[in-house]
Amino acid sequence: MRLLAIESSCDETAAAVVEGLPLRVRASVVASQILSHQVHGGVVPELAARSHLEALQPVIRQAMEASELDWSDLDAVAATQGPGLSSSLLLGMGAARALAARLRRPLIPVHHMEGHLLSLFLSEEAPSVAEVCPALVLLVTGGHTALVRVTAPGDYTLLGRSIDDAAGEALDKGARLLGLPYPGGPEIEALARGGNADAVAFPLGAPDSEEAHRRGGIAAFSFSGLKTALRYHLEREPGTAPQDVAAAYQSAVMNALVTRARQALERDPDIRSLACVGGVARNHLLRHRLQTLAGEHQARFLTVPLAYCTDNAAMIGAVPLLRPLPHSPEPAAIHPNLPLLGLQLR
Ligand code: KG4
Ligand code: ZN
Repeated sequence: MRLLAIESSCDETAAAVVEGLPLRVRASVVASQILSHQVHGGVVPELAARSHLEALQPVIRQAMEASELDWSDLDAVAATQGPGLSSSLLLGMGAARALAARLRRPLIPVHHMEGHLLSLFLSEEAPSVAEVCPALVLLVTGGHTALVRVTAPGDYTLLGRSIDDAAGEALDKGARLLGLPYPGGPEIEALARGGNADAVAFPLGAPDSEEAHRRGGIAAFSFSGLKTALRYHLEREPGTAPQDVAAAYQSAVMNALVTRARQALERDPDIRSLACVGGVARNHLLRHRLQTLAGEHQARFLTVPLAYCTDNAAMIGAVPLLRPLPHSPEPAAIHPNLPLLGLQLR
């Protein structure tokens, strides 16, 4: 099966041509809007929608050309249904619907977070589903932080999630306090290079109170206290070298993620692979620490290529190839507030 996938939930306009199984990305094109949002310090929905409108057509055309396929070779069109900015989602879904109708192919709506989750199968090692699962996956984006057990594509257990800010959000907000541009994750990573992570003691964002476990599961995360601690530190000790503050702050965010992954691996000896997906998975410190952790537990660490960590359409196309999804009844509705994989905590 071959399909064209479209992603437009936030500030990247993306199209990809994916086939499988075995999964193969024939083309993946991403037009980032980061530069136009940077001056505003965050994503501006109206600006995002206007940029999607301009970029969708050329991005889709570029992906088709790079795929070396003909329109008639496509078996389906997939598009992100949510969660995301409603006006941006509508534009991507609208383009997908028009294409599907014109090609007389089914239109398949895809959950953005499931796309991130299953991007683990776009890993460079990319072994078969049977070899990878059950997998433990840290899902860390700008809007979500969760630890998920992937028993098989479509069979997910939410082990924990953040009860307040997401890890990426903590990095973005921390960067703003440090006077760094948006998005903050890569800026903090660059500034932290050569810094001393022990220079400042920040709280661990892995709370173990009864309340935290009730709200966020056994692997609950909490990052809002970290941001507050950073603000206090900057006010009280403005003399600390910026690279030391950045290194300590980055390390605190990653410590919480690694701690929860370690505990889950200790509790669940059946886990065969460990993966980290979403924008924060681009972080080298996190990758390095998870790789070491996986080795200690005889698990395989799956490295998702950097280009498939941040928003892209290859991950959206991978979902219906990895598990059959219902084709959409017309018209395909978008869901800006789609809950995290529709999962209940266990
Ligand atoms: O997955 P993503 O592109 O968008 C969402 O669906 O939210 O993730 C964006 C997040 C931002 O918070 C950004 O700061 C973070 O990923 N990020 C990083 C790095 N690159 C991007 N965080 C840490 N280190 C990085 N190198
Ligand atoms: Zn995303």
